[in-house]
Amino acid sequence: MPDNQDNILKNAVNLLNDGKLVAFPTETVYGLGADASNLQAVEAVFKAKGRPQNHPLIIHLSNMLAMSEWARDVPDLAWQLAETFWPGPLTLVLPKHTRVLPAVTGGQDTVALRVPNHPITLKLLTLFGGGLVGPSANRFGRISPTSATDVEEELGDKVSLILDGGRCSVGLESTIVYVTNEYIQILRRGMIHEEVIASKISVPILLDQTQAIITPGMSVSHYAPLNRVHLVLSKYFNNYIDKLIKLDKTPSVLSFMPKPEGFNILWHQVNLDFTEYARNLYSNLRHLDKSGCTDIVVELPPNQIHWAAILDRLKRAAAC
Ligand code: TXA
Ligand code: MG
Repeated sequence: MPDNQDNILKNAVNLLNDGKLVAFPTETVYGLGADASNLQAVEAVFKAKGRPQNHPLIIHLSNMLAMSEWARDVPDLAWQLAETFWPGPLTLVLPKHTRVLPAVTGGQDTVALRVPNHPITLKLLTLFGGGLVGPSANRFGRISPTSATDVEEELGDKVSLILDGGRCSVGLESTIVYVTNEYIQILRRGMIHEEVIASKISVPILLDQTQAIITPGMSVSHYAPLNRVHLVLSKYFNNYIDKLIKLDKTPSVLSFMPKPEGFNILWHQVNLDFTEYARNLYSNLRHLDKSGCTDIVVELPPNQIHWAAILDRLKRAAAC
């Protein structure tokens, strides 16, 4: 962001007050921002994304105290989680306050809230003073954007302003948890995983996404590139690619291994570092998708808790 950041943010607030859409950076992915209290603005978000209206939106707040303006009967546990993890990549689903527009929650009685950890967006939220809905700033079903350029590519003609906050540091969408005083339930995996949460709180953590609460917008084939994605175990990897090539396909590859001799294809080698992998996953998929390939072949990451959110997104990308 250039020196005149204050002016840009003032302009962003004016646009938001006028019901316009402003894309904002967060530590996870870029959000498509609009005033959560303005029905027309919220409707414009659904329209811009091509998103079904029963898929609820997360409301972004500048600080945890604002939680009680948007949720009712906030459990102590939610305050504890907010205190521990906000600002950060955790979204809390709570009983909604009457002021929350039904359009935001897809008609549900719960609302999803989060304080994102990005200096520009925290300033924007503070200056704006209200809540901002912020679905990932991509067209429905596509890969979430992790840079301002990605947003431009996805929704450039639909937003009034894109706030450029550089590359997202986490790179995967926030962990979403439904919170009660008796238990919490993970509705979407993210880089704050259940063991991290369990180390801070003492109630049971449910992982079964089918129980107790509906989560529209968790369709299996989400976060998808245009080309088919194949997830392949390391031991079958090179054979698998060989077979695709023999079938006249042009695979592009994301692998922990170096490119073997004789393969004349785009081969992107990555490190076995889950933080770095998550940060770059979506930009890597975008890059491979644009490479003129017919298929994207991804080596399965390790089956470990630190990789669980990454694996979740890869499975969704491969599920089309
Ligand atoms: O990291 C993130 O969460 C990003 C950044 C921009 O904050 N936002 C994001 O929003 O990923 P979106 O709209 O792409 O995904 C939000 C998910 C939806 O899949 C929806 O199912 C879930 O949040 N959600 C929202 N409100 C909910 C509710 N009341 N109950 C259950 N799930 C909810
Ligand atoms: Mg999304």
